[in-house]
Amino acid sequence: MVSVIFPAAGQGKRMQAGVNKVFLELGGKPMFVRTLLKFSAVPAVDELIIVTGKAEMAPMRHVLERVPELKPWCVVEGGSERQYSVKNGLDMVSKDAEIVLVHDAARPLVSRETIEAVIAEARKNGAAIAAVPEKNTVKVVNADGVVQATPPRSTLWAVQTPQGFRRDILVRANEQAAEDGFLGTDDASLVERLGVPVHVVMGGYENIKVTTPGDLIVAEAFLHEGRGEQLKEKLADAAETAKEKLQKLTNQK
Ligand code: CTP
Ligand code: MG
Repeated sequence: MVSVIFPAAGQGKRMQAGVNKVFLELGGKPMFVRTLLKFSAVPAVDELIIVTGKAEMAPMRHVLERVPELKPWCVVEGGSERQYSVKNGLDMVSKDAEIVLVHDAARPLVSRETIEAVIAEARKNGAAIAAVPEKNTVKVVNADGVVQATPPRSTLWAVQTPQGFRRDILVRANEQAAEDGFLGTDDASLVERLGVPVHVVMGGYENIKVTTPGDLIVAEAFLHEGRGEQLKEKLADAAETAKEKLQKLTNQK
């Protein structure tokens, strides 16, 4: 059995919408509904656990009760940090779950392929995360704004969710983190501290975490332009136009 925990108890401060950003609509549907629908379309997924702020639990239930395509779901109260929200979700996971996925409610563009790849790798190796090769050069900078190091880009991966784990591993990782007072920025970092190898599967560049107002525009664009074939066609069109223009300019000389 596969359970999925969706942290959705943030305040969306960087979005500056004055409302929890997961309630913002994308293509006419609240972001969190889109995210849950993605997982509901994956046959291997059995239950959805959405973690949100106390005041938002009732409105969220109200919305979800009107979405018939969803896998069995429940809404749970979150905590002051994402890690505590995930922990509250983990406490509600069905006892029959062997695999637990954690996925940001603010990543509605995740693909079915990515979800299935994380589940398969977590089943095989116990811990798996979706990630994409980093496109930027990343530097380590100290508090004075001075560069300390430039890790080779080929070793850097930008980490996403879903992150999937054998249930016992994720439970143990959370217990250890609580005992040590460790607060991580993702779930895998808690598992890494146990010495359990975390395996990376290819995510998608479109699987953005909707964080700032600009991300909403990017997410809408991905929603309408799609990925895969549509994106390839768009690139082919752009390439043809650019080549023609370059050819004209070259001939003018
Ligand atoms: N989250 C959560 N509990 C928290 C903080 C965050 O469940 N105490 C969730 C968010 O709702 C989001 C995901 O974790 O789906 C990723 O966090 P982030 O993108 O930082 O969202 P927010 O915390 O809402 O945004 P901000 O940091 O800008 O306030
Ligand atoms: Mg946050």
